[in-house]
Amino acid sequence: MAKKTKSGDNPNIVKLWPTTFLVKRFAHYQRVNPALLELFYAHREREQRSPQQAYASNDDLLRQYPLHQELNDLAEFISQSIVEVAREANRGLWRDTEKVQVSLTGLWFQISNNHSFHEMHVHGNASWSGVYYVRAGDCSPDAESHRGRQPNGVTRFYGPHVEHMAGGFGDYGNLYLHDNSWDSYPQDGKLCVFPAHIKHMPFPYVGEEDRVIVSFHAQVYNSSGAMNYDYGFTN
Ligand SMILES: [Fe+2]
Repeated sequence: MAKKTKSGDNPNIVKLWPTTFLVKRFAHYQRVNPALLELFYAHREREQRSPQQAYASNDDLLRQYPLHQELNDLAEFISQSIVEVAREANRGLWRDTEKVQVSLTGLWFQISNNHSFHEMHVHGNASWSGVYYVRAGDCSPDAESHRGRQPNGVTRFYGPHVEHMAGGFGDYGNLYLHDNSWDSYPQDGKLCVFPAHIKHMPFPYVGEEDRVIVSFHAQVYNSSGAMNYDYGFTN
């Protein structure tokens, strides 16, 4: 697991390229989540999919249910959180007072059980992605309780160092390279926003209750609509 390191006071040391995540709990999850569960199970029911199968909806939920109050409440919370983390990651690059717009280009839900999982992946065509835990099921937020066994249904993120592990050299000098993943433990109402290019994988999940999550990816525009690289861009 990734451990926090002290920045230290050595003036000769430069630490580069941190990865910025946001982790926070939705203040209204106790009101919103039950309504989302009702919506999601009814949605799955209409498709007559077996409860034994892992289920993922299409990623256009916001277009399918434009008037659903709680879904929109969640989307608003997600959008604000993306601005929060993107503003921090772009500190010194964004103008302080600049308004930005978030376009949730995809938002979908997944219901998992019976050891279902996804392989490691990244999200394309987006700058930020995230996961919101509607129902954590039997995933414990206490990492210590999983010591010595595979964590159940966590979302595991892999840092850039993982690229260098295959066939790489390992010794005491590059111990930090071995420490290349971080687990987000599901918790009802918890949101985790991460850069879309970061590799991640939901671990197999099994439990009395299904694990239910909302996943999303987003593009962010500035006030002039710019979203892609523009080498003529000045702040
Ligand atoms: Fe994903």
